[in-house]
Amino acid sequence: MSVTMDKIVNLSKRRGFVFPSSEIYGGFASTWDYGPLGIELKRNIRDAWWRYMVTTRENVVGIESAVLMHPRVWEASGHIAGFSDPLVDCRACKRRFRADQIPPKKEERQCPKGLECDLTDARQFNLMFKTFVGPVEEDAAVAFLRPETAQGMFVNFLNVQQSSRLKPPFGIAQIGKSFRNEITPGNFIFRTREFEQMEMEFFVKPGTDEEWFDYWREQRMNWYISWLGIKPEHLRFHHYEKPELAHYAKACSDIEYQYPFGWSELEGIANRTDFDLRQHAEYSSKDLTFFDEETRERYLPYVIEPAVGVDRILLILLLDAYDEDVQDNEPRIVLRLHPRLAPIKVGIFPLLRKDGHPEKAQEIRDLLKQRFAVFYDQAGSIGRRYRRQDEVGTPFGVTVDHQTLQDNTVTLRDRDSLQQIRLPIDRLIPELVNRIEA
Ligand code: GAP
Repeated sequence: MSVTMDKIVNLSKRRGFVFPSSEIYGGFASTWDYGPLGIELKRNIRDAWWRYMVTTRENVVGIESAVLMHPRVWEASGHIAGFSDPLVDCRACKRRFRADQIPPKKEERQCPKGLECDLTDARQFNLMFKTFVGPVEEDAAVAFLRPETAQGMFVNFLNVQQSSRLKPPFGIAQIGKSFRNEITPGNFIFRTREFEQMEMEFFVKPGTDEEWFDYWREQRMNWYISWLGIKPEHLRFHHYEKPELAHYAKACSDIEYQYPFGWSELEGIANRTDFDLRQHAEYSSKDLTFFDEETRERYLPYVIEPAVGVDRILLILLLDAYDEDVQDNEPRIVLRLHPRLAPIKVGIFPLLRKDGHPEKAQEIRDLLKQRFAVFYDQAGSIGRRYRRQDEVGTPFGVTVDHQTLQDNTVTLRDRDSLQQIRLPIDRLIPELVNRIEA
């Protein structure tokens, strides 16, 4: 079985993970809306990241900064001058390409009329979305939608450091939307113009930065494998050589995933040096240095940054978890999502639609829904109901039958092993907590 992007796009639409945006108007290029199951999965991704990066550490705290920031931020960060892609147009068919992604083969560069595209010279196209603040559309009112959340952490470096009484090494984390006017968005939710980032800026003493860079590379790879259950053979590092590095970076490693369209970036881990703090200190004329009371040293910290998109993680989770098999002579699609991430944790099924089964099952639903996302289903054969939940990754099923009414026990079914055990209703919650956290 090989998973394709089409299978994931279809499943996402059919079961309510992701819908094409503004679909009744014919859709809006490369924008997507998340449905009921998609938002649960997204929330679980954010929670897993926040717990691993913030809650379980003593030296990382969070912020939520504004999407609209002072325009000088983007001058200082280098985004106004340098955050651009080279763009070429075809004079004949008017199609646009990123100059560094022009198809190498002649046939792929053909205009719809069958001629070879007549390309212009490359010109730089800034990827930031521009807008106007206030009622007047004039240059003085120009603002930008942030193209990364990172700058919110840099401009708040001293606010956070002083209010939380932290000293390097420490980190500031943020989850939020970013916007880029990408020339070539595509591959479903892999590259879009509006996306959500999870970034952490880790401030360290200069000279210790290379050690911390290695530490965070290792930590981040570990998170995908141990916390999210991604197959290790689908992940690898790509280390950048000097000429390929972004303007702010001394070193950068991507964690890449093997998508159906090939190996490509999932997350970037960068050594941003003191570039951003130094620039903001210069542009704002503020002293952003850190003074260590103990050692009496004053310095501008270096920064290690792991940065990833929530949407891209959601895509790899669906790709990695997708499986097809045959159960009871019926083909089955199953999403083998880690229970921690599954949008619905437990399906609850009365065996019959009579004899008191539904009432008892609803009682159990009311008990479990205080703790977990659950789904109650009494429609169709029990096999069909299991399969509907398997397809959206629900790891556990609880079935109420005749015996339940006599001795208060239910069967608990496991999506992957298909094993069913019988246990008392009052042991359900601890058993489920155990299995979800395992
Ligand atoms: N602050 C550093 C930064 O923004 P980046 O490599 O440009 O670095 C970090 O972005 C991560 O954000 C990427 O690895 C990817 O997961 C996600 N990302 C970037 N652009 C995206 C886009 N257009 N659509 C979806 N995700 C994107």
